[in-house]
Amino acid sequence: MNKYTNLILGGIIIVLAAILAGTLIFLKNQPPQQRAIAPIEQIADMEPDSAKWGINFPNQWNTLQQTANNKTDTTYGGSSKFSQLERDPRQVILFTGYPFSKEYNDDRGHMNAVTDVNAIKRINEKSPATCYSCKSSNNPALWKQMGMEAYDATLFSDMKGNIQNSIGCANCHEAGSMRLIVTNPALKEALEAQGKDWTTFTRQEMRTVVCANCHVEYYFKGDHKYLTFPWANGTRIENILSYYKENGFKDWEYPDTKTPMLKAQHPEYEMFTADSTHYKAGVSCADCHMPYVREGAAKFSTHDVHSPLLNPEAACGQCHTDVKYVVGRVNEIQNQVYNTKIATEDALVDAIAALKTAAADPKADPTLLDEARNLHREAQFMWDFVSAENSMGFHNPEYILKILADSTNKARQAQMKAAQATGDMNLLITGVYDSLDPKPTPFK
Ligand code: HEC
Ligand code: HEC
Ligand code: HEC
Ligand code: HEC
Repeated sequence: MNKYTNLILGGIIIVLAAILAGTLIFLKNQPPQQRAIAPIEQIADMEPDSAKWGINFPNQWNTLQQTANNKTDTTYGGSSKFSQLERDPRQVILFTGYPFSKEYNDDRGHMNAVTDVNAIKRINEKSPATCYSCKSSNNPALWKQMGMEAYDATLFSDMKGNIQNSIGCANCHEAGSMRLIVTNPALKEALEAQGKDWTTFTRQEMRTVVCANCHVEYYFKGDHKYLTFPWANGTRIENILSYYKENGFKDWEYPDTKTPMLKAQHPEYEMFTADSTHYKAGVSCADCHMPYVREGAAKFSTHDVHSPLLNPEAACGQCHTDVKYVVGRVNEIQNQVYNTKIATEDALVDAIAALKTAAADPKADPTLLDEARNLHREAQFMWDFVSAENSMGFHNPEYILKILADSTNKARQAQMKAAQATGDMNLLITGVYDSLDPKPTPFK
C-alpha cells in the first residue's frame, strides 16, 4: 500500500457516494408510479353503480361482490348476522326502552348493508333517512344534489326509492383518479372541527381515514337529525363524553331510573387511532382488512372485507413471521376483553336495579339521585363504546381494558349513590343478573 493507492481508493469512494446521493435525489423527485391500467370505460363522478366501475377494475369488483355471500363466523365476529341479544341477554336489560333491545345483530359484509338496514326492526315510520348514511353508494351523489341537511330531514321511508345500491366504489374512491377520498360530509366537518384538512393526508393515512366515512361514533343532531360525529373536543372517550355533556344530548331515557342515556355506535376508527400499537407503528385498517392478493398475474387489494382471522396468512403474514402466534394472541386478548366486559355488564345491571328502587322512593335525595344517574349514563356509554366496537378489544387492548375498568368503577359508584340517596343498604346487593330466572329475551 502506498499513498497513491489510498488517494485512488479515497477518490473512488467519493465518486461512488456522489453517484448514490445523486440517484437518491433523482428517485425522490420522480412522480409517484402510475398504475398501468388504461381506463376502458369513462366513469361518471360519484357513479353509484359499482358494476360500471367494475368494467375497468374487475378484480376489485369481483372481490367486493363476495362480501354479499360471506357467512363464516369466528369466536366473537365473522359474517353471519347472529343476534347480540340472544348471545348476551344482559344487553336486553341495558337497552330497555330503546329499539336496540328489540333487534341487534352482528355486522355482515359490505354488499348486504342496504338489505340489512331495510329489514331491521329498529326502523319505524319516524326514522330519518340519516339511517342510510353508511349503507349505500347512492349517497355521495344524493348529498351533492340535495345537500346533507335536506337528505337527513327526509324520512327513511321517503328516501327508500333513491337507495338501490349497497356500499360501493363511490363511497371510497374518486372516479378518474381512483384515489381514496372522504365522501361523507359529516366526516369532513368533524375533521375540520379539529382543524384537520383531509386533502393533506398521506396515502397511508387515507387507508384508515376512508373507513372513518362509516366506522365511527356518530349521532343525529337536532330536530332535522343532522348526521354529526361528536369529535369537536377530540376522538377519545373522555372527549366524546364531554362533548355530549356540553350539548346535553341523550338518545333515550331509561325507563324507571330516568337516566338520560347515550347509545354508542361502532367506533372502530376512534378505538384504533387512540395510539394502539398497530396505529403507532403506521399500520392502517386496509393493511389487515384489505391485504394484497394475487389473481393470475394481477396483484391487488382484496375488496372482500371481513374478519382477518379468516385469512390471517394474507392479513397478518405480510408483517408477522409467526402467524399462528399472533392469531393465538388475538384469541387471548378477545377472551380477556369479553370476560371483563361481562363483569362490567353485571355492575351496570346491579346499578340499574338499585336506581330503579331509589327513583321510586319519594324520600330519596334528588341531588344524590341525579349524581347516580349521571354515573349510570357515563358508565354505560363507556361500556357500549367497547361493546359496540366490533373487534372485541383487539384493535386497542390496553385502552379498551382501561375503559372497561373505569366503566365498572362508575357503575358501582352509581349503585352506591343510589343506596346513599335512600339510605337503603339493600340496594347494595350484587349479582342481580345471575338471580334472574328466566333470563330476558329480546323485546318484541
Ligand atoms: C392489525 C390488524 C387490524 C387493523 C389495523 C384493523 N383491524 Fe379490524 N379487526 C382485526 C381483527 C383481528 C378483528 C377481529 C375479528 C374477529 O373477531 O373475527 C377485527 C375486527 C374488525 C371488525 C369486525 C369484523 C367482524 O368479523 O365482525 C370491523 C368492522 C373492523 N375490524 C374494522 C376495522 C377498521 C375500520 C379499522 C381501522 C380503523 C380496523 N379494523 C383496523 C384486525 C385489524
Ligand atoms: C370500503 C372502501 C372501498 C370500496 C367500497 C372500494 N374500494 Fe377500492 N380501494 C380501497 C382501499 C382502502 C384501497 C387501497 C388503496 C391504496 O392502497 O392506495 C383500494 C384500492 C383500489 C384500487 C387500486 C389497486 C389496488 O387494488 O390496490 C382500485 C383500482 C380500486 N380500489 C377499485 C375499486 C372499485 C372498482 C371499487 C368498486 C367496485 C372499489 N374499489 C370499492 C377501498 C375501497
Ligand atoms: C359507506 C360506509 C362504509 C365504509 C366506507 C366502510 N364500511 Fe365497513 N361496514 C359498513 C357497514 C354498514 C357494515 C355492516 C353491513 C351489514 O351488516 O349489513 C360494514 C361491515 C364491515 C365489516 C364486517 C364484515 C363481516 O363480514 O362481518 C368489516 C370488517 C368492515 N366493514 C371493515 C371496513 C374497513 C376496513 C373499511 C375501510 C377500508 C370499511 N369497512 C369502510 C359501512 C362501511
Ligand atoms: C403492516 C404491518 C402489520 C400487519 C399487517 C399486522 N401487524 Fe401486528 N404488529 C405490527 C407491528 C409493527 C407491531 C409492533 C410490535 C412489533 O414491532 O412487532 C405489531 C404488533 C402486534 C402484536 C403485539 C401487540 C402488542 O401490543 O404487543 C400482535 C398480537 C399483533 N401485532 C397481531 C397482529 C395480527 C393478528 C395481525 C393480522 C390480523 C397483524 N398483527 C397484522 C405490524 C403489523
